[in-house]
Amino acid sequence: MKTKKIPPYAPTLIESTRAIGYSPEAAVADIIDNSIAAEANKVDIYFFPIDGAYIAILDNGKGMSETELDLAMQYGSKNPMDTRDTKDLGRFGLGLKTASLSQCRCLTVISKQGDIVEGRRWDVDHVTEVGDWSLLVLDQEELTSIPQIDKLLKYEFGTLVVWQKLDRLKAEEINFELALGRKIDSVRTHLSLVYHRYLNGESGILKIQISINGEKVLPADPFLAKKSVQAMDDETLVIHGHKIVVRPYILPHISKMTAEEIKQLGGKEGLRKQQGFYIYRNKRLLVWGTWFRMMRQGDLSKLARIQVDIPNTLDDLWTLDIKKSSALPPAEVRKNLEVIIDKIAERSKRTWTFRGKKEISDTTTHMWNRMKNPHEGFYYEINREHPMVQKIIDRDSELQVPLFALFKQIEHGLPLNQLYVDLNNDEQLKNEQEPSSADIIMSLKVMLDMQDNIADKLALLETMASIEPFSVYPDAVEKVKWEALNNG
Ligand SMILES: Nc1ncnc2c1ncn2[C@@H]1O[C@H](COP(=O)(O)OP(=O)(O)OP(=O)(O)O)[C@@H](O)[C@H]1O
Ligand SMILES: [Mg+2]
Repeated sequence: MKTKKIPPYAPTLIESTRAIGYSPEAAVADIIDNSIAAEANKVDIYFFPIDGAYIAILDNGKGMSETELDLAMQYGSKNPMDTRDTKDLGRFGLGLKTASLSQCRCLTVISKQGDIVEGRRWDVDHVTEVGDWSLLVLDQEELTSIPQIDKLLKYEFGTLVVWQKLDRLKAEEINFELALGRKIDSVRTHLSLVYHRYLNGESGILKIQISINGEKVLPADPFLAKKSVQAMDDETLVIHGHKIVVRPYILPHISKMTAEEIKQLGGKEGLRKQQGFYIYRNKRLLVWGTWFRMMRQGDLSKLARIQVDIPNTLDDLWTLDIKKSSALPPAEVRKNLEVIIDKIAERSKRTWTFRGKKEISDTTTHMWNRMKNPHEGFYYEINREHPMVQKIIDRDSELQVPLFALFKQIEHGLPLNQLYVDLNNDEQLKNEQEPSSADIIMSLKVMLDMQDNIADKLALLETMASIEPFSVYPDAVEKVKWEALNNG
């Protein structure tokens, strides 16, 4: 068989890859991924909206030699099948070019290593004109006119990426300056979230500082880790010899969050929409706010967020896309995640409905029992064995029938539909607040009054001390005991 060489036609291919579908924030993040892979600990982004508008991204990473820079500018500079350094955030050998040219028509990359400064440029108009993969090589004179070059020159090592001819960012915008301002906001929000572990300097990774037009990007932790409950211990799944670490969080109830925290978590609406898995590839957030169709994004699970750490060695299994903004869990991981979902979704519902109370299946005596219906579903029942109920019956056994009849009425009369609506509403329900110490003392006294002698009173107090809600108020129980002993 004969062969024939059919290389891609440069102008068409470049123009088509511009339409991969990057948002401005995802494009900027792709450039920062390269800076992080180059071990930079400082990235400065500049948005310049007026005459000769540009976006520049400067890092103090290890930079590139002349040959490395040529290679970096080549489409498909690395094979996606290659094994990468465990800290590398790249995969396809495309990001620098595709992300940049999705936003602009002119990409200049300048890299510095010691005294050597080299610059290369892809200009879509030039490629179209000459009809070939013609990379522009900037001479030393030309380098001096590149925006923000002075800042790069101050570094011993580093790389400066500049986007000019911002046609995509300008498209359909009447007021470009205003529109760019809005885009800067969404870039900032995006970077705060996707790099929050790098910005925070989590152990095991190099802490990084990112700024936009001189203003620092602050980390936005989607788990509010300091206030949240870690619902279960970390679970480590081993797939093909590589570790995936799963850490489920339950956010605090919304009434316990500050306005600032609610905003950070996406607002009240965002809370619901952003529940789900948070997939981190090499500690960089990739996909978030989805249950991968394993569960519905319901109101009752809106406090559940599960951190999943994957290494870059499993990229093919997770079907990572070029923009690194989607990845799907492989079947073997799905199975395990489903089990975790079941456990945590149940917990999240409880935070919503039984906030601060012990779960029903424990050994504490509760006022209400959650009962499994023999056929299907659950129902709630007042605990007839509760010592407060039993004491009343002991006192007058004739009371049992009317008392239980009353309980039945209360149980049937529970305004469940209204409760459902109220619980999903972010207002705090007053019933959910813990009783005050004074309420507890009063209840205890009412029961003590039903006892004839001090021995019975003390025995009753002894039992009550370990029963909800009295168990939570040992001081109140002690106070009543002291009074009982001293007043006979
Ligand atoms: N800021 C930088 N500092 C040092 N080297 C860089 C920098 N940016 C890019 N490079 C080099 O250029 C290469 C190509 O980058 P590019 O983003 O196109 O692909 P990639 O990062 O390898 O993979 P991906 O397409 O997944 O991003 C990188 O592998 C890296 O060697
Ligand atoms: Mg890259």
